[in-house]
Amino acid sequence: MGDARIVIAEAEEEDLSFLLGMWNDTTVMRYCGYPEGKGWTDVEIAKWWRYYLNNRAEYGAEETQFILRVPDGTRVGESYVGRVPEDFAVGDWRKPPEVRCLMADVKLATQWWGQGLGTVSMRLVTAFVFEQTSCELFVVPPHRDNPAAVRVYEKACFRHTGVWAWPGHEIMEMSRDEYASRFPEQGEGAV
Ligand SMILES: CC(C)(COP(=O)(O)OP(=O)(O)OC[C@H]1O[C@@H](n2cnc3c(N)ncnc32)[C@H](O)[C@@H]1OP(=O)(O)O)[C@@H](O)C(=O)NCCC(=O)NCCS
Repeated sequence: MGDARIVIAEAEEEDLSFLLGMWNDTTVMRYCGYPEGKGWTDVEIAKWWRYYLNNRAEYGAEETQFILRVPDGTRVGESYVGRVPEDFAVGDWRKPPEVRCLMADVKLATQWWGQGLGTVSMRLVTAFVFEQTSCELFVVPPHRDNPAAVRVYEKACFRHTGVWAWPGHEIMEMSRDEYASRFPEQGEGAV
């Protein structure tokens, strides 16, 4: 999937060194709760990859690690889409019962910040979620001190909820109906 500026595709094993670099960059990770932990090693990321592949095999597109590239193929960032389990609750936020809910984030390598690529990427990930999965509610948890992330999600048409999950992290939401009304040009097979 992609547009003129960004192409998104599921990660492959050859992308692990790029992910390692992203997750060990403290500037990128400053406001990110996922993935947890600092100072990833080759051994840890190989273990994570096996865990990811198992999840992907069990849950399909609802557990997808994306790599974001510019059209010449250069990797610029990543995004993870994952299921929110039934009964999941954190802080003041609780997953609505019986609603199929996915959560995601987006991260770019620092040299690619400020060019609109985060917004383009998040719009593509959102299209994937609503076109390729049966997600009913898509949520993102930006930190209030991370205005670039908040703005990216606003521009991708997520709605503020005023509900705080992890400390400092507000849940922003988009329902399937909201997606359909905001992006009426998207239809089945459009992405
Ligand atoms: C968040 C992130 C993906 C944004 O990507 P990006 O490509 O730089 O974002 P864009 O250029 O598409 O848009 C950024 C918007 O934030 C605004 N912005 C950036 N810094 C800002 C600041 N300090 N204060 C207010 N607004 C700010 C920009 O002006 C722009 O909005 P505009 O188009 O209305 O002017 C990128 O900064 C990143 O990877 N950060 C580290 C990882 C991270 O924190 N991810 C979010 C996890 S929830």
